[in-house]
Amino acid sequence: MVSSPKSKNKILIFGATGYLGKYMVKASVSAGHPTFVYARPAVESDHSNPSKLQLHRQFESMGVTIFQGELDEHEKLVSALQQVDVVISTLAVPQHLDQLKIIKAMEEAGTIKRFVPSEFGNEVDRVSGLPPFEALLENKRKIRRATEAAGICYTYVSANAFSAYFIDYLLHPHIQRDEVIIYGTGHAKGRMMKRSYMPEDEIIKLYETLPFPENIAVAILHNIFIKGDQMSFELTEDDLEASKLYPDHVYTSVDKLLDICLSAPPKPKLAAFA
Ligand SMILES: NC(=O)c1ccc[n+]([C@@H]2O[C@H](COP(=O)([O-])OP(=O)(O)OC[C@H]3O[C@@H](n4cnc5c(N)ncnc54)[C@H](OP(=O)(O)O)[C@@H]3O)[C@@H](O)[C@H]2O)c1
Repeated sequence: MVSSPKSKNKILIFGATGYLGKYMVKASVSAGHPTFVYARPAVESDHSNPSKLQLHRQFESMGVTIFQGELDEHEKLVSALQQVDVVISTLAVPQHLDQLKIIKAMEEAGTIKRFVPSEFGNEVDRVSGLPPFEALLENKRKIRRATEAAGICYTYVSANAFSAYFIDYLLHPHIQRDEVIIYGTGHAKGRMMKRSYMPEDEIIKLYETLPFPENIAVAILHNIFIKGDQMSFELTEDDLEASKLYPDHVYTSVDKLLDICLSAPPKPKLAAFA
């Protein structure tokens, strides 16, 4: 049965203009939820980020209500939270501990049915990593413990690595990203790719050589490929394998994606695999 918009939970999203947040807003709207965004003001004069103002306008044209405010504006936060049911945070990594301010405001508002903190990565209570990655995990754990202590219902989403980040960025953490080298015309088919293996001691050396924050990506690679942490534990009865929520969704595996790319007719603009 499809419920009417009136019976749908009102969703408030933090970090809505970000990489993940944009998808979250669109998904919330398309699922028929009255959707709200709490965001820092986007102003015409912000030449450093003109797309942010455009995004706010796009959200508004989709029927999204925007509360403009900073995370340390407590009264504004409480007032926004009192108008919604569910809170989803997709705040950026450096802002993770700022979610303590949201939790405090949710406690005061007293109306929030569920909180989804900004996680969307490794299952932080069951993995560990090299120091710079461990620090990120620890911040996410702090937010979990604060949410539980506040008695707020929660869902923690552990998505492991996003394919887009994983394929395009994580596998080449130490390479400058301002150019892509294409050998020949990029049209040749049937070439065998050479496999080069990077053993753990080389990854550790790379991690020790690179400055912060560039060493974070290497620490994540170490966690995934050397420790195999993303698959190193069994799900418990408190966990839900998210694909079970959407049994009709047809997922595209990385293998399949590569098959599609390799069998596509050569197009110069796609040769860079951007
Ligand atoms: N598993 C993976 O492979 C993977 C990959 C990427 C990200 N993630 C996770 O996804 C979550 C979101 O990451 P993201 O990359 O989407 O974030 P992002 O694009 O870097 O930023 C999200 C939002 O955070 C807010 N923000 C940034 N700086 C702020 C500041 N100084 N004060 C207040 N708000 C600030 C901004 O929202 P407003 O300007 O609208 O206020 C921004 O749009 C994180 O928890 C991250 O760990 C996982």
